[in-house]
Amino acid sequence: MRVAIGNHKGGSGKTATVVGLAAALAETDHRVLVVDLDPQANASRRLGVRVDAANPVPTVSEAIRESHAGEAGGAAVEAILTPAWPEPYAEKIGLIPSRFDLENRISEAATMGAVGRLRRALAGVDDDYDVTLIDCPPSLGHLTQLALAAADVAVAVLEPEFDSVEGAVRLRDFVEAAAAELGNPRLRLAGVVVGRVRANLGAHAFQIDGLPELFGSELVWSPTIPERAVIKDAADAAVPVATLGGVPAAGLAEVYRDLAARLLKEVDR
Ligand SMILES: Nc1ncnc2c1ncn2[C@@H]1O[C@H](COP(=O)(O)OP(=O)(O)OP(=O)(O)O)[C@@H](O)[C@H]1O
Ligand SMILES: [Mg+2]
Repeated sequence: MRVAIGNHKGGSGKTATVVGLAAALAETDHRVLVVDLDPQANASRRLGVRVDAANPVPTVSEAIRESHAGEAGGAAVEAILTPAWPEPYAEKIGLIPSRFDLENRISEAATMGAVGRLRRALAGVDDDYDVTLIDCPPSLGHLTQLALAAADVAVAVLEPEFDSVEGAVRLRDFVEAAAAELGNPRLRLAGVVVGRVRANLGAHAFQIDGLPELFGSELVWSPTIPERAVIKDAADAAVPVATLGGVPAAGLAEVYRDLAARLLKEVDR
């Protein structure tokens, strides 16, 4: 099952969720492919991979570029790397990395059929993975549209603040309005992940209370992800949060495992 993780709003915790879910899926013996579709390449870096002149490997950008109509599908297989994480993560997680020149794909948006190129690039490539997680940039533009055209479901990640909730609503509305035009009429929003929650903030509690009415209670996944320094520490050190040790890290790893279990229910639907 392919999952596009998005929100029109930046900094909502999309990449933290992709990386946390990937770790949790690996911990529970599932194979997961992470597709970094953001030119910021934050997911790649947090999984320990930097693509630059010293490490000139094919990325998602080349896979998309080489997947125009008429080309054979599956070009993304050339770009799968093993993250620089310890076992069991390394053997369970595949990463299709990104670098800033993924921006160059945006200019191809006007080409007929270009929006289907990630779908073609991934054809047959992720059949052996339980879940493919596509980390989208904070945009509803061409890169996110490539992801939505390739995905079975979309999942929004939001911070319980007004602008971030609105960004998730715009993603949902865009999925509804554009799925058919993206050549993917069965695409649906399957969930809303609530991250970066500060328990002592009334404004957060207020926004969280409003989510079931806004999205439907089925779609609001639990548990919520608390704001914790260990998430930043794990991101900065490019390691899975569980390997940091300590009570907060163990608690967070459990939150991500619960969310991964919720995600896997969508696979069986
Ligand atoms: N639950 C959390 N607790 C603490 N820090 C968090 C949490 N979630 C995310 N962060 C931090 O907040 C920042 C933004 O998160 P992240 O990069 O995951 O957001 P994003 O939505 O992917 O951003 P962008 O829109 O730029 O891609 C990062 O520094 C990340 O480490
Ligand atoms: Mg991100």
